[in-house]
Amino acid sequence: MFIRDDILYVGVNDHQIDLFEGLYDVPNGMAYNSYVIKDEKTAVMDSVDQNFGDEWIANIKQALGGSAPDYLIVQHMEPDHSANIGRFAAEFPNAKIVGNAKTFAMIKRFFGTDYPDKQVVVKDGETLSLGSHELKFVFAPMVHWPEVMFTYDAAAKVLFTADAFGKFGALDVEEDWACEARRYYFGIVGKYGMQVQNVLKKAAALDIQTICPLHGPVLSENLDYYLELYNTWSSYGVESEGLFIAYTSVYGNTKKAAELLKEKLEAKGCPKVAVADLAREDMAESVEDAFRYGKLVLATTTYNADIFPFMREFINDLTERGYQNRTIGIIENGTWAPMAAKVIKSKFEKSKNITFANTTVTVNSALDSTSEAQIEALADELMG
Ligand code: FEO
Repeated sequence: MFIRDDILYVGVNDHQIDLFEGLYDVPNGMAYNSYVIKDEKTAVMDSVDQNFGDEWIANIKQALGGSAPDYLIVQHMEPDHSANIGRFAAEFPNAKIVGNAKTFAMIKRFFGTDYPDKQVVVKDGETLSLGSHELKFVFAPMVHWPEVMFTYDAAAKVLFTADAFGKFGALDVEEDWACEARRYYFGIVGKYGMQVQNVLKKAAALDIQTICPLHGPVLSENLDYYLELYNTWSSYGVESEGLFIAYTSVYGNTKKAAELLKEKLEAKGCPKVAVADLAREDMAESVEDAFRYGKLVLATTTYNADIFPFMREFINDLTERGYQNRTIGIIENGTWAPMAAKVIKSKFEKSKNITFANTTVTVNSALDSTSEAQIEALADELMG
């Protein structure tokens, strides 16, 4: 596959994977992207997951018509991209490996050697000439690991962006970009909004026509759309109007309360009310919805003097990713000593700019006229 006549795609699609990074469901598989830049010297951008070494090496050989590449550029050392560095070094013994000081420290940890005879160590802003293509390395620490760097090819106006602008899903499956890119972003990079903002500022100074990420499709049209989404996500801004209700329910009573709130909000004209049962639906999907909307309602039971386990996990997923700038409403349930609201509030104590609704709904076992009136009041407040 050609990105342009001198930049070729040599990545692979993975439909064997069960959990990406050991954690995320990827029903449409995963792509590990890799690219070849052909010039007087040739460069390969990153390797692929350990299970796809043969296919990747074959793709490189085909792209280069059998000749060996001169460089392997390592933008990111997470094994979904780095696992075949050793294989590359063995297959192409004269090729150099390009990375920064942190890259080579990690290569040594993963491979037992940092390939001293092959090393080309680059600094932030440094360039490597392939002939007409001059590659400039733009460090992007913590997007998603400390050694990450982007690579800008000014001649082609291509920015290689490591994990950034990636998504879940293999490239041979048609699906909406934003949905799986958002789930990927908040799941994997969400904690590092400030670092993403920093690299977006560096990228703004570049003339970019094509973004080549390490996952998901190559982006070459309407780049402002993707850049704006990344700006919203990384600044913890609100992307969509509406509200997300996340609940757990043991016997269905908390679920009824969540559904009644949804009904009331819709009757009052709320443009979108997304609802998820945290015990049964994909947790990463719920995390992305919490960041997507400006308002969140948490409905859960008191459990072992704490809150129900899936809600605890969900809140932890949010707070460790820097959840902020949001309004939160609470529906608590408890038969003899409801205390979920107090516990939930304490879990957001260190979060920035969280406003709790004045109305807390307390369900004592099952909905009654008092709790229904509280739900009405909460709906009014959230629509205010
Ligand atoms: Fe796709 Fe952070 O690895």
